[in-house]
Amino acid sequence: MSSIDYSQKIPNNVNLASDRTLQRALEQWQPNFLNWWADMGPMSSQLHDVYLRTAISAHPSGWTHFDYVKMPDYRWGIFLSPQVEDRRIHFGEEIGKPVWQDVPGEHRANLRRIIVTQGDTEPASVEQQRHLGLTAPSLYDLRNLFQINVEEGRHLWAMVYLLHKFFGRDGREEADALLQRRSGQQDNPRILGAFNEQTPDWLALFMFTYFTDRDGKFQLLALTESSFDPLARTTKFMLTEEAHHMYVGESGVARTIERTCTVMREHGVDAPDQVRALGAIDLPTIQRYLNFHYSVTLDLFGADQSSNAAMFFSSGLKGRYEEARRGDDHVLKDRSHTILDVQHGKLVEREAPMLNALNEVLRDDFIRDSISGVGRWNKIIEKAGLPYRLAVPHKAFNRQIGTLSGVRVTPDGRVVSQAEWDAQVGEWMPTAADREFVGSLMHRVLEPGRYAGWIAPPTHRINKQPLDMEYVKLQ
Ligand SMILES: [Fe+2]
Ligand SMILES: [Fe+2]
Repeated sequence: MSSIDYSQKIPNNVNLASDRTLQRALEQWQPNFLNWWADMGPMSSQLHDVYLRTAISAHPSGWTHFDYVKMPDYRWGIFLSPQVEDRRIHFGEEIGKPVWQDVPGEHRANLRRIIVTQGDTEPASVEQQRHLGLTAPSLYDLRNLFQINVEEGRHLWAMVYLLHKFFGRDGREEADALLQRRSGQQDNPRILGAFNEQTPDWLALFMFTYFTDRDGKFQLLALTESSFDPLARTTKFMLTEEAHHMYVGESGVARTIERTCTVMREHGVDAPDQVRALGAIDLPTIQRYLNFHYSVTLDLFGADQSSNAAMFFSSGLKGRYEEARRGDDHVLKDRSHTILDVQHGKLVEREAPMLNALNEVLRDDFIRDSISGVGRWNKIIEKAGLPYRLAVPHKAFNRQIGTLSGVRVTPDGRVVSQAEWDAQVGEWMPTAADREFVGSLMHRVLEPGRYAGWIAPPTHRINKQPLDMEYVKLQ
């Protein structure tokens, strides 16, 4: 079951050949996907030979194969983690019963919605990043970008398989619609806010892959708990691919900080304009980028109180992060969780029924996970002997969804008036001038082993290859 059949038009480990109708439907969707890739995938990249990994097995050990591939020839396919025998529902109202191999009629609409919402983020991020190859700071970084892009395309395949196999005609329509929406487009945008934002430069890309791909990690982890077994198995395999995306983000920001610190130390400068004059990105600008990407990512978890979240949990569709490891009853009827509320213009904490606050529970898990990387970034600054420290902003900062969307809150958690916000927002979020400056540093570097001046070389190799390998052969 875990080995992948590459002799088929659509590589898969689900014995697709045994279901001719499904196979034919997916083979009809395939050219539409390739057209979408040609239109909306990485710009001017179709002919490059890229050193990419491809999944060859769904077993976590030894699942990858590396080779040069032209991206349109990448073998996108359908890979599910191996089935766990006698797997049981382990949370919600139906706890203890066998998991579902098919979609129960009463959960059909909700499951479809969960799958479509997840599926929509995958092509969206490819669209958001499509122009970045033209300004890659090195061949190593260019290769990493393309690796992420092809794998997000693979994740779209993962969700489209579920739609086609389990949701009949409306599933096929949803699969088509996933190729029709466009990130940032007015008439037909992607479903979630952060996936309609721009990723204008490489610092934004690194922040996006650190924070927003991490939202993906937490959503996928919650779905690996699902009682709908094919969804659990699909998302489990997606997570093995996802880890590298967050690594690209964390190490990309780390290398940017490293370079900035080197410039500051070598030249004994501290003021942002002096740092900029030396071609590095000043730390306050990095902090503003962090504030932006962190806050828009927090919104992706949804409203702090949500009856849908309660229903998704109680009916066994979506669990919590590490559900099995939690020591409670996994039904949560009389549990509570602390949420933030606004009273008389002030932020106050209060207890809410946990079932309704499950978006907040997942958001809090995400916050804990994100903070650890920020601590590692600060170690670099500390090691350079500089006093500056990065921090994630307050949870209520710049929120557009839920209770907190009604207030203006500073990064350190003070509620302020709209006028105060307007006067100071340029210190907290990237300004047009910041974006213009960072944009001015973005020049493509194509010589193997060379890096743009604003970023330090990487420390980790790809598949044990030397850092000065020609990771992308441009054609
Ligand atoms: Fe993904
Ligand atoms: Fe990702």
